Amino acid sequence: MKIKYFFGALIAENLWIIVVNMLKNVESLKNAEKPARTSFRLRGLEVFPNTILSPMDGVTDAPFRRLCRVLSGNRMGLLVSEFVPTDGDAVFNLEGHKQLRFFPEERPFGVQIFGRFPDKMADAARKIAVALKPDYIEVNAGCPAPKVAGKGSGSGLLRDLPRLQEILHDVRAALDGCGVEMPLTLKCRIGWDSESINVLETLAIAEGEGVEMLTVHGRTRLQGYNGLADWDWIGKVAAVAKIPVIGNGDVNSVEVARERIENYGVSGVAIGRGAMHNPWIFGQIADAWEGKPKRVITAGEALDVFRLYYGFKIEDGSTDKGAEGRLKQLAARLCKGFCLDGAVSGSEGATSGMDGADDVAMQVRQTLLSSSCAAELLDRAQSLKEGLAKDLVFDPGRLVNLNGAKETELKFGDQFKGR
Ligand SMILES: Cc1cc2nc3c(=O)[nH]c(=O)nc-3n(C[C@H](O)[C@H](O)[C@H](O)COP(=O)(O)O)c2cc1C
Repeated sequence: MKIKYFFGALIAENLWIIVVNMLKNVESLKNAEKPARTSFRLRGLEVFPNTILSPMDGVTDAPFRRLCRVLSGNRMGLLVSEFVPTDGDAVFNLEGHKQLRFFPEERPFGVQIFGRFPDKMADAARKIAVALKPDYIEVNAGCPAPKVAGKGSGSGLLRDLPRLQEILHDVRAALDGCGVEMPLTLKCRIGWDSESINVLETLAIAEGEGVEMLTVHGRTRLQGYNGLADWDWIGKVAAVAKIPVIGNGDVNSVEVARERIENYGVSGVAIGRGAMHNPWIFGQIADAWEGKPKRVITAGEALDVFRLYYGFKIEDGSTDKGAEGRLKQLAARLCKGFCLDGAVSGSEGATSGMDGADDVAMQVRQTLLSSSCAAELLDRAQSLKEGLAKDLVFDPGRLVNLNGAKETELKFGDQFKGR
């Protein structure tokens, strides 16, 4: 009788394990679902997956871009330079702009320029195309910073569409005459403020002037980075566009990327702050589009990233101090995602508040941030891997708020009102 009971229990337990594993597999498959569209074309280039690392001045330099590309297993759509100013130089000088540096493995790679003078923009575009031969050149009509937009460049161009048209026209003509095949793209916001949304007019001008891809950040200039991007406007643009429209704003996970592509009809998504907090995001999207199940990133893996990033920084000519600063910025962001495996968001029994691991994650963070130099940080990262952080994993799902890295609540309203 006892033996019968024992075998009965064993079978029941195994059955239970089988059922749990089946459910887990269903969950993994759900994660691996891909949207109807996983790639798009930019002239002769098939861009798979349909993701772009959105340019971020002071963040997406060549080392950070290379880091994202390596962590994605070389499965990112497009990389773009930080924006390159053209107004300042009397004559545009390639040597004067460190943002123009890129490595062959970053391709397909675009250079983004900004300015308010059509002749200067055209001169810069021609020189960049001839000397550097990037895969495309992009005009910025999105930067909201008062020192840029307030002077009429970046999103300031959205208040002066005839000037934007002249710039696109002259840049296109300069590229046509330079002897190098060079697609022209545009990145814009939906308008200057909520009273003057003109992104459909911007699209019409762009298409008329030979722009071959439009990235739309779904905020107004006045909004800055506050609130949430308005994807309804992005969807309206995508619905009527003849060129690929890339949606941008608040994409921070595979699930959001999939939902945006499906529901708003965009050709792809550009990801900025989501990648600052989770440089694996492009690989995770590629995995899902390729039908692979979701993979857990261990804290050990995350801690290994510092050595890689440091190497790229030094190779790019950074000082040790400069590299240390960037390593600490990355450490502060990544540590926010550390938790125990069972606490991964979306998993069964996940806890959203303080678990014991939050304290450990905090200690890991402090250990890294209190390093006195880059070498010490790298040594500490190594010891943490085998010690304090051994049982932690990196869960980007815990980093939901992109609207100000230090904030836990979203800020609404116009960030740049009166400026
Ligand atoms: C620190 C920072 C710097 C940025 N620099 C640029 C830039 O040089 N060129 C550009 O087109 N957009 C720039 N942006 C805007 C981003 O590319 C992106 O459009 C915006 O952050 C919204 O996307 P996200 O929600 O995925 O971050 C910057 C954003 C941030 C946060």
